[in-house]
Amino acid sequence: LREHEEFTKVKNIATIELGRYEIETWYFSPFPPEYNDSLKLYFCEFCLNFMKRKEQLQRHMRKCDLKHPPGDEIYRSGTLSMFEVDGKKNKVYGQNLCYLAKLFLDHKTLYYDVDLFLFYVLCECDDRGCHMVGYFSKEKHSEESYNLACILTLPPYQRKGYGKFLIAFSYELSKKEGKVGTPERPLSDLGLLSYRGYWTRVLLDILKKHKGNISIKVSLPEYFKLLEPLQFLLWATDLIWELSDMTAIKAEDILTTLQSLELIQYRKGQHVICADPKVLDRHLKAAGRGGLEVDVSKLIWTPYK
Ligand code: ACO
Ligand code: ZN
Repeated sequence: LREHEEFTKVKNIATIELGRYEIETWYFSPFPPEYNDSLKLYFCEFCLNFMKRKEQLQRHMRKCDLKHPPGDEIYRSGTLSMFEVDGKKNKVYGQNLCYLAKLFLDHKTLYYDVDLFLFYVLCECDDRGCHMVGYFSKEKHSEESYNLACILTLPPYQRKGYGKFLIAFSYELSKKEGKVGTPERPLSDLGLLSYRGYWTRVLLDILKKHKGNISIKVSLPEYFKLLEPLQFLLWATDLIWELSDMTAIKAEDILTTLQSLELIQYRKGQHVICADPKVLDRHLKAAGRGGLEVDVSKLIWTPYK
């Protein structure tokens, strides 16, 4: 299968129909060969089964009794709901979701082993049902402390804050697990932009509350200068660990975020984290809108065992 994928990386399916949207695809996705001669696929928006012809979908919709993703509703706030789907209990759904997602994800390998993943599917609900907006997947057990494998907001819903909501949600789950987390690499350009924005907003909001502390000083014993600065800071900066504890963001991600904003500075033999409110506000403005908030009181969830 992998070889087949390598040979036919050319985009195959040009458009899909999903709920009330017709969506142009972005990338190749390795649908089973019998679908490869279709330019357009028709998805059932609830079970994500896909078909080659509109009439097949219409017939399917008459008998499909799902009105939301199969799985547990673990969050509801207003019209937004989040469903947790276990890839082992709902294998076909998990695979369908991967086929669909790959149409918009360039660099990700498709995991056929959906057993090992949980899928968190975000929906906008109305009287016709719960309509998928986006999702993220998460390994049930990650050695590398990944708290998110793949993230997608369907194109008609992009740039409305759902991506930030999904990212925030993944960190709320990590907090409930009492773990720090990080997204699986590599990140796409849009993925990196969204994460950078999220990290910046969360961290700078906290730093702003350190009022009065214009800079948090970290003393640098002479011999640590021999270490790579990054290594040293990881080792030494209590504040970074503290931030990590509060946010469930992995220390490395905190460091690279603060470094990319040039907030870690070397002054008079010391590394300091700049917490000048004016500087922070400028960065916060540039980081964009806050997006949709996760209301933690509406999350009813226990970690996967
Ligand atoms: N152009 C410029 N900036 C953008 C764009 C864009 N097209 N899209 C997102 N951003 C940036 C902006 O800073 C934006 O904040 P702002 O709107 O306040 O300025 C921020 O990212 C996030 O915006 P959201 O509306 O919260 O995110 P969205 O719902 O659009 O979802 C996502 C972001 C999931 C990355 C989406 O673009 C997507 O699904 N892309 C295709 C799949 C993908 O690349 N996924 C990430 C792969 S990496 C991984 O899975 C671990
Ligand atoms: Zn269906």
